[in-house]
Amino acid sequence: MYCVRNITEDLYWIGGNDRRLALFENIHPIPRGVSYNSYLLLDKKTVLFDTVDWSICRSFLENIKHVLNGRTLDYMVINHMEPDHAACIEEIILRYPDVKVICTEKAAMLMHQFGFDIDDGRQTQVKEGDMMSFGKHKVVFVAAPMVHWPEAMVTYDTTDGVLFAADAFGSFGALDGKLFNDEVNFDRDWIDDARRYYTNIVGKYGPHVQTLLKKAGGLDIKYICPLHGPVWRNDFGYLLEKYDKWSRYEPEEKGVMIVYASMYGNTEAAANDLATRLVKKGMTNVVMYDVSQTHVSYLISETFKYSHVVLASVTYNLNIYPPMLTYLADMKALNLQKRTFALIENGSWAPQSGKLIHEFLDGMKEMTILDKEVSLNSAMKEDDQSVFDDLADSIIESMK
Ligand code: FEO
Repeated sequence: MYCVRNITEDLYWIGGNDRRLALFENIHPIPRGVSYNSYLLLDKKTVLFDTVDWSICRSFLENIKHVLNGRTLDYMVINHMEPDHAACIEEIILRYPDVKVICTEKAAMLMHQFGFDIDDGRQTQVKEGDMMSFGKHKVVFVAAPMVHWPEAMVTYDTTDGVLFAADAFGSFGALDGKLFNDEVNFDRDWIDDARRYYTNIVGKYGPHVQTLLKKAGGLDIKYICPLHGPVWRNDFGYLLEKYDKWSRYEPEEKGVMIVYASMYGNTEAAANDLATRLVKKGMTNVVMYDVSQTHVSYLISETFKYSHVVLASVTYNLNIYPPMLTYLADMKALNLQKRTFALIENGSWAPQSGKLIHEFLDGMKEMTILDKEVSLNSAMKEDDQSVFDDLADSIIESMK
């Protein structure tokens, strides 16, 4: 059975949701599922904008058939070749053998690599600024390399102000019938998943996102149609401000995120002590995460959000505790910058996680490490209270 929605009079959302997939890209948990968005324009020519993941191919094909209502499909625009959007290209070609494919040169290369051999006569390669008319609708193609793959582009419909945004402005989370941003409480129900999607999927490529934001700033946008999550038709300032902050690696909030690595609860107790001192001193925007209990994608997302990070880590095999090391490595891989860190190390005979974490952070861009580093032997004692008090003061002072 089909399930579609109108975006404008002649543009339809024909995507779908996957609530069964546990791990997006086989790595990021998606307890709220994910949507794969695809769009179909009915003009003098019919135009499909991207396909969907293989998991929902059948309902996607039913949606196309319903919207086309007997017409043939003339064009398929491929903005992004990652298989969560491009898996059904071959199915479309089999069912609509006259369809012409519009994509970048790099996307054509990737199509070949993924095994979709599309002959030259059926393919139009486009580049930055190329335009095409489908009847009433004229579109311009805008290169968006590394948002999130090198072949990516976005397509702007100049007639209705629709930006087909590929991976930009997307979110984890399935659509519960509510397609548009003004049909949901985005700031309450979606922002955490949108941030986790952005930071983990596109976060590494901040400068490229900045380039795209500058290009988008010159367009009269009335709809943003991403490949995941809600379609935006108002309140663009809210979304653009978030993207601007995330892609410049600026924190959203002044606050303290405490991430602790604790084997028997002693490092956790020290982290609790510090959190309590911070709150008693007036810094109430404090969150705590057990690095062993929290998937790293959530840690990354929260690290993009907060200005200050306390890393409290036990020493393990004379090294950094492995889940903490994974978190740090992911932070570095995603190019995170501009955060202030405080360090607490623990160890029963050779505590050195603090020194090692310090060295790790020194290898990253624009990270500040507060001077007051705390070293514990097995557990926090009465004697350590003043050191912890100084550490809390130092964190609060650095926020001024
Ligand atoms: Fe949702 Fe980069 O693909």
